Amino acid sequence: MSVGIDEISFYTSNYFLDLKNLAEMQQIDADKYYQGIGQEKMGMPAPDEDVVTMAANAALPLIERVGADAISTVMFATETGIDQSKSAGVYVHRLLGLTANCRVVELKQACYSATAAIQMGCALVARQPEKKVLVIASDVARYDLDTPGEATQGCGAVAMLITANPRLVEIDAEVGNHTEDVMDFWRPNYRSTALVDGKYSTKIYLRSLKLAWENFREASSLAFNDFQHFCYHLPFTRMAQKAHKHLARVNQSELSPESLDLQLEDTLIYNRIIGNSYTASMYIGLVSLLENGKQNLAGSRVGFFSYGSGCVAEFFSGKIVAGYEKYLHRDRHQRMLEARNEVSYDEYLKLYNDVDPTDGGEHLKGAGTTGRFRLAGIAHHKREYIAC
Ligand code: HMG
Repeated sequence: MSVGIDEISFYTSNYFLDLKNLAEMQQIDADKYYQGIGQEKMGMPAPDEDVVTMAANAALPLIERVGADAISTVMFATETGIDQSKSAGVYVHRLLGLTANCRVVELKQACYSATAAIQMGCALVARQPEKKVLVIASDVARYDLDTPGEATQGCGAVAMLITANPRLVEIDAEVGNHTEDVMDFWRPNYRSTALVDGKYSTKIYLRSLKLAWENFREASSLAFNDFQHFCYHLPFTRMAQKAHKHLARVNQSELSPESLDLQLEDTLIYNRIIGNSYTASMYIGLVSLLENGKQNLAGSRVGFFSYGSGCVAEFFSGKIVAGYEKYLHRDRHQRMLEARNEVSYDEYLKLYNDVDPTDGGEHLKGAGTTGRFRLAGIAHHKREYIAC
């Protein structure tokens, strides 16, 4: 019996800032962003959106198909959680009408935790193959204004059904890990924006890739040349291109730079116009590969490199299942991306500065989302979510 990803759906906000506007305000060449970091647009959440509403929007199409009764566990991965105690997944559980017998938990380790959720979901399903686990990753990437990280903001959520005999991607049991206590990127509880040592973080990302890969090679019989495609964690698309060249060098690959680019270019399409969505980012890359692959990908081996600052990294592998193309949400995703509204730099600042009140008063949230769920308000320190 195989286990893995049976269905996958993502959501991002209906607002974005084109990075050429940010570059203009900063009086720098827009190609620093378009070419240098490989990003064009960044998603900005509406005032009435957060990780909960984005997660519920991503998961709803899966629940509409399988039914709320089918889900035995929800694993909610995020590093922009809205409560220190209560799992964001419990709000989603209500919004989606899941049963009282469904367990819910939130997982955290920077951008890595969705991968831990997938591996745990696969283990649960291997033990009880009739169960379906809903893994959701949802994040809003926020850095201080006028810092190098600002252009790498973004937002998005991805929902994945983990089942036995999956219809999209079979996940192999062998993995390679690398964990190390480093301060490359972090966000203390009292801050709404991340702190980051940007250049150092890219170095640690590459070092972790090599070490997780070496650990993977000890566990798996698969070598670099056995993979047709690679999905990397995507803080920005150039990071993945650099990482892939690095991994090719580590493996003394003789593939041309063009062939190496082909192994990941389809994974980058959505991220380039959404931005970093932290835990969701690599899996939105997977959707991008499945939905934009130029040939049929059935039988292709995919190498996944999941990285979460701080840091935990994992290299793992999967195989794309024959017939996968029938179970994608391509049209809906592409319609959603095409229907987004561009905001001006001033509107971006307004969205950026619309932070949650902390005074315990009654605050209604301005309408903005075009999604199916919204954060209607915050009153007495309680968040009120509604279906639209
Ligand atoms: P920076 O230091 O301002 O950028 O920000 P730079 O000066 O290094 O320029 C970037 C690239 O653009 C360079 O290319 C320039 O040459 C090029 P490279 O040397 O890298 O090949 N460039 C141009 N290209 C074309 N035309 C031009 C032009 N000008 C310059 N006119 C930095 C870069 C990554 C530091 C910044 O964006 C940052 O701090 N980002 C946030 C941290 C981050 O994303 N780190 C990635 C690894 S850590 C990670 O992935 C985890 C994370 O997702 C969080 C989590 O796990 O929770 C972040």
